[in-house]
Order: sequence, then C-alpha cells, then structure tokens
Amino acid sequence: MDASRARRDLVAAGVAPHEARWLLEEYAEDPSALADAVERRLSGEPLQYVLGHWPFRTLDLVVDSRALIPRPETEWLIDIAWARVHDRSTLRVLDLGCGSGAIGLALADEARRASVPLSLVAADRSRDALDLCALNAARAHLELTLVRSTWFDDVDAAWRGTFDLVVTNPPYVSRAQWLTLASELAFEPVEALVAGDTPDAEGFADLARIIASVREWLAPDGVLVAEHGADQGGAATRAALEAGFTRVNDYEDLAARPRVLVAST
Ligand SMILES: C[S@@+](CC[C@H](N)C(=O)[O-])C[C@H]1O[C@@H](n2cnc3c(N)ncnc32)[C@H](O)[C@@H]1O
Repeated sequence: MDASRARRDLVAAGVAPHEARWLLEEYAEDPSALADAVERRLSGEPLQYVLGHWPFRTLDLVVDSRALIPRPETEWLIDIAWARVHDRSTLRVLDLGCGSGAIGLALADEARRASVPLSLVAADRSRDALDLCALNAARAHLELTLVRSTWFDDVDAAWRGTFDLVVTNPPYVSRAQWLTLASELAFEPVEALVAGDTPDAEGFADLARIIASVREWLAPDGVLVAEHGADQGGAATRAALEAGFTRVNDYEDLAARPRVLVAST
C-alpha cells in the first residue's frame, strides 16, 4: 500500500490527520507492513496498540493488548507522587496493578536521573501484564521485583511496613459506565478497567479494598498515591480517613475534577 493512499483512507475514515502521519512515519521503513497497520487502525484498534509502543514520561513503553494503554492523566500522577518523595535519600516503591509498568518504571527513571536509590516492586494479577512490565523494565535498563498477586494477597508478608510509596491506578470504571464506553475501550483488557460498585460509589470496589489495607504495607512516613474516577473523590477521601490516614488530599485535574488521592499518616 502506498503512503498517500493509506493517508487518504485513514483520514476519510475519520482518523485524525496527526495520527495518520504518525502511522505513516512508523512504517516508512517497512511499507509491506503498512496495509496491515492501516487495517487494524480502521477496525478501531487504538493507535498505541497498532504502533506497539508509546511515550510515557521519559520512557518509550511497549504497549499491546496485554495491558491498559497508559493515560496522560497517569503521567500527572507521577508528578504528584515524585513531589512527595523526591527529597528522600532512598525509596522503596510498590506499584500495585502495574500493567505495562508505566507508573513504577517512570518513577524509577525519575529516581535514577536524580541519583536516588529506588527499589521497585511491581504487582499485578495478570501474568500477561507482568510479562509486558518485565519487557519494559529490561528496555529501560531498570531493575524491579515482579509479584503476581491479587492486590496485597500474595505480596511477601515480610514487606509489611516497608514501602515509602504505594502507587496505584486500579480499575475504577463501573460495569454500567464501561457498557456505554465499550466501543472506545473494546481493545483493552476489561479486567484492567472495570471494578465493582460499593454503597459509596460506582466502580469503587478495588480502590476501597486497596485503601482499606494499604496502611500496614507503608513505612511509618509512607504515602499512598492512587488514581481514581472523577466522581470518586468523596468516596476516596472518606475511605482514606476511615482507614486511619490523617493527611488526606485529593488533587484536581485542569478541569477541576478530583482524580488523585494522596494519603499519609
Ligand atoms: C487501570 S490498569 C493500570 C495499569 C498501569 N498501572 C497504568 O497506569 O497504565 C489496572 C491494572 O490492575 C490490574 N488488576 C486488576 N484487578 C486486579 C486485582 N484484583 N489484583 C491485582 N491487580 C489487578 C490489571 O491487570 C491492570 O494491569
């Protein structure tokens, strides 16, 4: 397929011109693979999966259907988390629900650039996600310990009370919401997106579980930084206070929607 026809087909089908350009640039050296890539994009597959890699902070991550595509709002979570811990002399970090490894690896790279020794544990229930995270760690020349676990269930008990920072971006879309977004999110693993409801908020079950049990894993001056849905700010703050955190902030995004819980004692 030649490039100008590919561009025409993509734009005619509603693909944004800049996306069409990126796709053509990606395959400029391999025109035989272009037709397949165009077909995948035209079938609705996200550009990130078609390209197979995507920038996240300082990293170029491999992204594929084994894990969620890292989102721009999660890049902002890194700023919030790093601001809270950057002045420590060493860091022990747990990335819970690591997926591609975006959060933990981006923090590890920040720490490397700042010459702060950081030890990273990345946990996920999905074997596929852990494999992808391992690949991204190797590409970035970053070390980590991978743990297959349903939240804290299989995290080594010896690590209780040791983490300076627990970061998490768990599933927080309700099933009802997911059904309305299904065509947009159809290519991403549903188990990375959808969480059960609680009496306090839809899609909040995983966050509720994490917030309720995270304190015992944090060092005495440890911090939890958790991304949540825009309508879950109240529930997140209440859950953190109920769990015994005394310093609780919820950060609002540029649209003034609460999105990131930061809790410590
Ligand atoms: C929203 S994705 C976030 C991925 C990555 N941290 C990011 O920000 O791009 C949530 C991740 O949590 C994992 N997950 C879902 N339920 C889980 C559970 N019960 N225990 C552990 N991990 C779980 C999923 O496999 C997925 O990788």
